[in-house]
Parts: sequence; structure tokens; C-alpha cells
Amino acid sequence: MFRCFMGAMKEIRNIVILTGAGVSAESGIGTFRDKGGLWEKHRVEDVATPEGFARDPDLVLGFYDMRREAIQKAEPNAAHFALAKLEAEWPGAFLLVTQNVDDLHGRAGNRQLIHMHGEHLNALCSACGTRSPWRGTLADRPACPACGASALRPDVVWFGEMPYRMDEIELALSACDLFVSIGTSGAVYPAAGYVRTARHYGALTLELNLEPSAGSLYFDDSRHGLATEIVPAWVEEMLALPQMSA
Ligand code: OAD
Ligand code: ZN
Repeated sequence: MFRCFMGAMKEIRNIVILTGAGVSAESGIGTFRDKGGLWEKHRVEDVATPEGFARDPDLVLGFYDMRREAIQKAEPNAAHFALAKLEAEWPGAFLLVTQNVDDLHGRAGNRQLIHMHGEHLNALCSACGTRSPWRGTLADRPACPACGASALRPDVVWFGEMPYRMDEIELALSACDLFVSIGTSGAVYPAAGYVRTARHYGALTLELNLEPSAGSLYFDDSRHGLATEIVPAWVEEMLALPQMSA
């Protein structure tokens, strides 16, 4: 359907995009592993594992209450809006897989969206398994709207837990022509392995990040800079690709 960029004459019909914390950094939401990032200030074992939660639920619930409040004050940036425009105007299949637990992609307008690490704005009931939209706090142990138990936790995937909707993601990766990774350090699996899965199935691969990531060598091409600059520029390039005659 489309003649490709990156020097290859490959038709690009199906796109899978993976995003990470770097895409929301310019919206004021701190990343995890950059200098001053969240994991310098908090131990992963304490706030992002089931064991940490069992040890000190007050600490963990309070930590996510703060994060939940902060994301509600943040706004989508030019990179989020560009990806929403790409979804709206791209004639082929499109899937956006995000590791981010903020709701900025959704607020920018993306709908073909998988939150593989969960969402801050959901609470998950450990008693009945119901997922409820949640904007307030959890540290005060509110009742689950479905079963009434005081057993709500953030609906965020912790280390040692299974990311969400893996089958759908793998299926999309196996059928994509272009895989693009944006604003992620490539430090956390399974997301860090998606570039190799996509390559295995024959996709072209592109990285858009502030700096080379841990997985840079697996990408056919890399562009480095601020997400709010390089993502809109890349989206315009994609939408300007000439259509090949059927
Ligand atoms: P990281 O903090 O590991 O990486 C963020 C990446 O974004 C880095 O490579 C930065 O160079 C880049 N970056 C920073 N600012 C940027 C900007 N303005 N424009 C473009 N790129 C920028 O975050 P993730 O890769 O998302 O998981 O982390 C993956 C997972 O690790 C998270 O989902 C979270 C965390 O532990 C869980 O909590 C399960
Ligand atoms: Zn419940």
C-alpha cells in the first residue's frame, strides 16, 4: 500500500508502536531510569513488587496515590497528539502498545491502545478481581464498588506479575510491517524483546528516543531527540509517504 522510507522498498500496511516513559516526560511525568528518575528515589522492591505491597501496603498505596494525583494534572504533549493523528489518518492497521500507566495517549485520542502495564486510573480488587475506574485515593482502604471488600490495589503490573494482553500484542507484532519504539530504555521485558519479535517476522524497526537505548543495535534505524520534536516529524513523514498504485 505504501512505499517505504528507510531505504527499503517494503510495503508498509500494519504498524505497531511501543511507547515508554520518555513520551510523557515533557508532560512533566518523570521517567524511571534517567538521572533523578523514579527508581533513584524509590526502591523497586519496595513499591513495585507484590512482596513490597505485602510488607508495607500503606507505603505502596500512598506512593501510587501520589502518582495517580500527579497524572491527572498533566496534559498530553505534541508526541501524544501526533500518535493520535497517525492512528486517525493511517489507512492500514495500527496498534499502540504502551508501558505507561498514565492516560495521556487516551486523552490525546488514541483508541487502538493497549496498556500492557495497567493504568493508574483503575483500581483492581484483590478479593473479587473487578477492575473499577478510580481517581481518588486507595491508602484510606475504600470499599470495592463491586463486592464491598476493602481490598483495592492499583491496577498496575508489578515486577513478577504478568503484563496484560500479551497474546494480542504478539499477534500484532507477527503481522506488522513496521515496529517503532518511542521513549523507552529497553530495560524491561517482555516489552524490550518486541523489537526482536517484530524483526523475526520481517518488520522494519525504528527507534525514536532521547538517546540510544539498551536495544538500539536491534533497530534498522534510530533517531535521537526530544519526543515532542522527533515524533511529530516522523508522523508527518509517514502520512506523506506516496501511495503505490494497487
Ligand atoms: P525508562 O525510565 O526506563 O526509560 C525512559 C527512556 O526515555 C530513556 O531511554 C530516556 O532516554 C528516554 N527519554 C527521556 N526523556 C525523553 C524525551 N523527552 N523524549 C524522548 N525520550 C526521552 O522508562 P521505560 O522504558 O518506560 O514498569 O520503563 C519501562 C518500565 O520500567 C515501566 O513501564 C515501569 C518501569 O519499571 C513497571 O513499573 C512494571
Ligand atoms: Zn471486589
